[in-house]
Amino acid sequence: MKKGKRLYEGKAKIIYATQDKDLVIQYFKDDATAFNNQKKTTIEGKGVLNNRISEHILSNLSQIGIKNHLVKRLNMREQVIKLVEIIPIEFIVRNVATGSLTKRLGIEDGTVLKEPLIEYCLKDDKLGDPLIAEEHIYAFEWANKKEIEKIKKMILRINDFMIGMFRGIGIKLIDFKLEFGRLKVNGKNEIILADEISPDTCRLWDSITDKKLDKDRFRKDLGDLIPAYTEVAKRLGILHEQSNVSAVNVTQLSSVKKKNK
Ligand code: TMP
Ligand code: ASP
Repeated sequence: MKKGKRLYEGKAKIIYATQDKDLVIQYFKDDATAFNNQKKTTIEGKGVLNNRISEHILSNLSQIGIKNHLVKRLNMREQVIKLVEIIPIEFIVRNVATGSLTKRLGIEDGTVLKEPLIEYCLKDDKLGDPLIAEEHIYAFEWANKKEIEKIKKMILRINDFMIGMFRGIGIKLIDFKLEFGRLKVNGKNEIILADEISPDTCRLWDSITDKKLDKDRFRKDLGDLIPAYTEVAKRLGILHEQSNVSAVNVTQLSSVKKKNK
């Protein structure tokens, strides 16, 4: 597939056109940002790991009927995805209280929530992705009620599936962020899951030790982000157990899975 012009560059990914107007290439960068770009650095190998982990999770989700934008992974850093009209909302799903929720409402860190909590943030970097109410979504027509009802149903299934998937490999799914897009199918809009699901967009804690295996290692200056993401990839079966944890090995990732099967 031929890569065309750059259509959009975000904080962690770049979108390129292809010859097919319905498909684009999503490129995973090594850039890490936090607190709306106030803190940033480059972490060699992060993009490679996120590409693989996101591919794994999205292809598993499509196997349980969750439609999503992933067509196929192309190489270490790129995947072909369906071009969608992104709904400008970040859907935050929480199982355990931590992060901005605890700061905002004074809830004790680590409180297990009785039911998953869905929060909405407007996707607008200039405004710092502010938290919004569901009513704002309808008032400003960012999405309609039917779309949000459909998205909520998808979110709960995705959450149930991902909690189970991670629990099976000794990881607690604390919270995560999802994005959805509109796709025209036979003249009608369909809602599908978009963006990425990776340790950049999830909080993942080791089930026994509560060790953070996600981007909080960068946000909180804990270090060892690549070993943590590599651990997630290994446990998911994307990387074989023997491979050494280093950025250099991460660059060899693409051939590992095939050889290992
Ligand atoms: P928060 O506690 O900082 O609001 O984050 C909640 C979850 O959403 C956490 O898993 C990180 C993820 N997230 C993103 O992926 N992108 C973002 O821009 C933000 C603010 C959070
Ligand atoms: N992704 C956001 C940023 O780049 C916030 C975060 O993930 O903490 O600033």
